[in-house]
Amino acid sequence: MQHQFEQLKKEALVALTSARDADALRAWEILYLGRKGKLAQLMEKLGTLSVEEKKKVGPIANAVKQELTQAIEVKRTSPGDGRSSPGDGFDTTLPGVRPPQGHLHPVTQAIQEIEDIFSRIGFHRARHPEVDTDWYAFESLNMPADHPARDEWETYFIESPNHRNTESQKLVLTPHTSNGQVRELEKGKLPIRMVNISKCYRRQSDVSHVPMFHQFEGVYVDEHVTFQHLKGVFEYFIHEFFGPKRTYRLRPFHFRFTEPSVEVDVQCDVCNGTGKNCRLCKNGWLELAGGGMMHPNVLKAGGVDPKKYTAFAFGFGVERSYMMKSGLKVDDIRILYKNDLRFLEQF
Ligand code: PHE
Repeated sequence: MQHQFEQLKKEALVALTSARDADALRAWEILYLGRKGKLAQLMEKLGTLSVEEKKKVGPIANAVKQELTQAIEVKRTSPGDGRSSPGDGFDTTLPGVRPPQGHLHPVTQAIQEIEDIFSRIGFHRARHPEVDTDWYAFESLNMPADHPARDEWETYFIESPNHRNTESQKLVLTPHTSNGQVRELEKGKLPIRMVNISKCYRRQSDVSHVPMFHQFEGVYVDEHVTFQHLKGVFEYFIHEFFGPKRTYRLRPFHFRFTEPSVEVDVQCDVCNGTGKNCRLCKNGWLELAGGGMMHPNVLKAGGVDPKKYTAFAFGFGVERSYMMKSGLKVDDIRILYKNDLRFLEQF
């Protein structure tokens, strides 16, 4: 009886080696392991044995069953040889499955492009704090405490037990990158050609505002810097970033830290400058930046002699600039930060 089981095992294993596909494996399973299969038939005969013999052969019969069950499992899940795949789903000769590959966020891509555009005209990237004191964010920029001009910046203030001593030591989440102006002047290395690109925070949210956004601040300090240089840099940036055909305009404006001051608008790409039913722009123009000639008080605050040096400064919104790239047609700034892959994967 023991011998019969061993014979059956051998026969089954040999048969298994020539089973080449899923159908063959299934047929093998029915033939040997099925309810009325060869093994079951043999097991039925165990009942005719004496108690002594049952004790001896029983475990062998079970071991054979286990071994055959395992053998077919292994065969089902093991790699094929490429020409035939015996019932398994794995073929080593097939090309691999590529894991999904991400890419940089469109805003990060824009920041890199901006950094590159400015480095070509000698403006190097500077880094300044994104949580800074009231002094650098406002006071040193010619905006004393309680000055109404501050209202425009919708600022978040930070609880800062270690900075309570004076008003100017209070901390804010930088509402603009202009906090880098006096910080850069203080380094004392002239001339300065910097671009400070960083996060800004304001308590605002609508089609053209998000509470966390980015600006890039350009500052040029040297002897004989004029408004003409500023206009030239605006034109250079707009043509590099949007292409040579994009129309833009400078609008007289007022900032406490520049004089004279302007705002820069570009022709809206969402409505092609028509302004018709455009949910984003005003009359076909979108405001991207503010800028002007640095106020003498700001130069002084940074320890630079305004009689010897002149300077310009400007600040652009990164997200808004990015939205105005030709053909993108992004008409709501908030979509950039919704983390919707269907949107992000397009860039
Ligand atoms: N900081 C200003 C703003 O956020 C822009 C600006 C920068 C204006 C530099 C003048 C000079 O609106």
